[in-house]
Amino acid sequence: MIIYKAEDYKDMSRKAANILSAQVIMKPDCVLGLATGSTPIGTYEQLVEWYKKGDLDFAKVKTVNLDEYKGLERTNEQSYYHFMHQHLFHHVNIEEDNIHLPNGMEPDAKKECARYEQLIQSLGGVDLQLLGLGHNGHIGFNEPCEVFEKDTHCVDLAERTIEANKRFFDSIEEVPRQAYTMGIRTIMQAKKILIIVSGEDKADIVRDAFFGPVTPMVPASILQMHNDVTLIADKAALSKIPE
Ligand code: GLP
Repeated sequence: MIIYKAEDYKDMSRKAANILSAQVIMKPDCVLGLATGSTPIGTYEQLVEWYKKGDLDFAKVKTVNLDEYKGLERTNEQSYYHFMHQHLFHHVNIEEDNIHLPNGMEPDAKKECARYEQLIQSLGGVDLQLLGLGHNGHIGFNEPCEVFEKDTHCVDLAERTIEANKRFFDSIEEVPRQAYTMGIRTIMQAKKILIIVSGEDKADIVRDAFFGPVTPMVPASILQMHNDVTLIADKAALSKIPE
């Protein structure tokens, strides 16, 4: 694993955007696996800035997002479909047909998860997967549990995740209780992985996930087994890692 220590959130975002840009420049028709949450917002902002300067071209880029809430319309402001358009897709020249997220409005979980897995395979797999890190070690919406869930699946969100995400909703009752998420194998099959983390509140989980044992109780710990992972974290998030 390559670890880049960033000064702060802005520096982390810029470094991450550099790696994503390099991917797009080297393979203009690449498949980017994308993430939501507050962590990647600065990275997307930087990509938009470079796109506007003429340094990046998304015309052939394809994207697959990690996850989507189950039961939220795309038009809902809290859907990840909306988030991605708001922070990235609306501002760059990506083709709408090349944008993929799980369909949160498909009630048949088995059907939707199979469709999404197949779609990723049909695109030839993910070239570069961007990840954030949940406080409990979740990646995508793979919550801590007894075993690693391999494929795209429907998940009951952990109380801690619901609590963490309530800030985006008017009330905690409005936070969806379920989501569709890529599974651990789906994520691990990405050719390259880029995980970004910011803030002192993530320092304990950064230490546990990347320097502790590999366990499904800390889903991100599986990334220690991937042979092309880059972790970009700011000083605060790296403040508890062993020397
Ligand atoms: C969310 C998302 C994850 C994200 C994580 C951390 O629930 N499903 O993909 O990485 O939680 O979010 P944040 O970056 O806001 O801390």
